[in-house]
Amino acid sequence: MIAQTLHGLEEVLRAELLKLGARDLERHNRAVSFTGDLGFMYKANLSLRTAIRILVPLETVEARSPDELYHVLRAFDWESFMDVKDTFMFKVTLNSTYFTHSQFAARKAKDALVDRFRDKCGARPSVDLENPTLRIHLHITEDRCALSLDSSGGSLHQRGYRVETNAAPLNEVLAAGMVILSGWNKISPLVDPFCGSGTILAEAAMIAANIPPNIHRRTFAFQGWNDYDPELWNTIRDSAIDKITGECPPLLGGDINRVTVAKAKETMRMAKVDDLVTIRHSSFADLEAPERTGMLIMNPPYGERMDERGVMAPSDTEEINELYRSIGDTLKHRWPGWTAWVLTSNMDAAKRIKLTPKPKIQLFNGALDCRFLRYEIYTGSRRLPVQEQQL
Ligand SMILES: C[S@@+](CC[C@H](N)C(=O)[O-])C[C@H]1O[C@@H](n2cnc3c(N)ncnc32)[C@H](O)[C@@H]1O
Repeated sequence: MIAQTLHGLEEVLRAELLKLGARDLERHNRAVSFTGDLGFMYKANLSLRTAIRILVPLETVEARSPDELYHVLRAFDWESFMDVKDTFMFKVTLNSTYFTHSQFAARKAKDALVDRFRDKCGARPSVDLENPTLRIHLHITEDRCALSLDSSGGSLHQRGYRVETNAAPLNEVLAAGMVILSGWNKISPLVDPFCGSGTILAEAAMIAANIPPNIHRRTFAFQGWNDYDPELWNTIRDSAIDKITGECPPLLGGDINRVTVAKAKETMRMAKVDDLVTIRHSSFADLEAPERTGMLIMNPPYGERMDERGVMAPSDTEEINELYRSIGDTLKHRWPGWTAWVLTSNMDAAKRIKLTPKPKIQLFNGALDCRFLRYEIYTGSRRLPVQEQQL
């Protein structure tokens, strides 16, 4: 099988798969391949925190033109795993000199499948682009056309706890990846002082308490397949539920916006971790550290509002630089002994923190090229702002 992920999270996903019991692991660009049985496929969908989807390979065929693709796919034994009543869609990705238009390749593939069913059964399955029983991935590399089935359905970041918000929420897979990449030990407290809708904290609570990330997800594509084994699924699900410890160190979120704070509390209720996470209405400057040491993970605003030429408006630049300068000051004055991780796409503003980040990990927040920056806040760092003022 192939578990797909986001750029920068491949190693985290590999480690997750290894821990879950996958075999023959191989790391790729934004994916990890592995072997496992049907039960493992269910387990992977339920329990992997940094997977976007789990693909089950069907077959790799060769074709050098859309017509050739039509012929090989018409000869393919589609009836062995789908029924005329099933709905389907093709998702095509291309990296080929033989094929130039993914839409055209998808249409040829659809025609081949439909014509095969018409020949064999006198009826054809329908296309459903929204919620099909079978999402068929066709990945074409030169003349190699790899067919696979998406066992997840919609992306696995759709955990089932998200509440509507306009606070630019992080993708849940990215948030979980950040918590794991940070090396948080699940014993010391974790604080997100720019918590927005609370994605980092919800994922952290589920990580600490060993709650499977997709326990609240409504459906998985494999539940509509003709080999779906509900008994096996229930066994896998029950055994994951049995391993929930419910144990969690203090988790604290803060946000300056009252409406957003209400959203974050609702997120915690939806994810059923509201007893594990405290949310405060507070600016970062006023937030009290719950203990003498611990970890901060934050995703402050990036100030990405641009003018029509793609240049950041001057007032925004000043405002955002000031915010990052105050983040640096607050860290040095109020959080000595803590480790802070900051995700931002605004490296100019990040310089205003005036601490040296190490390492700087490249991650993408949607299309935004970001760095995940780690700062050790030593007790001595608290004198720095004073020295700066004297210069
Ligand atoms: C990019 S959003 C965080 C989104 C969050 N990671 C999520 O997944 O929903 C940044 C948040 O920082 C908050 N904020 C801005 N300035 C702040 C400050 N000085 N102190 C605390 N929160 C602040 C905003 O209200 C906003 O909700």
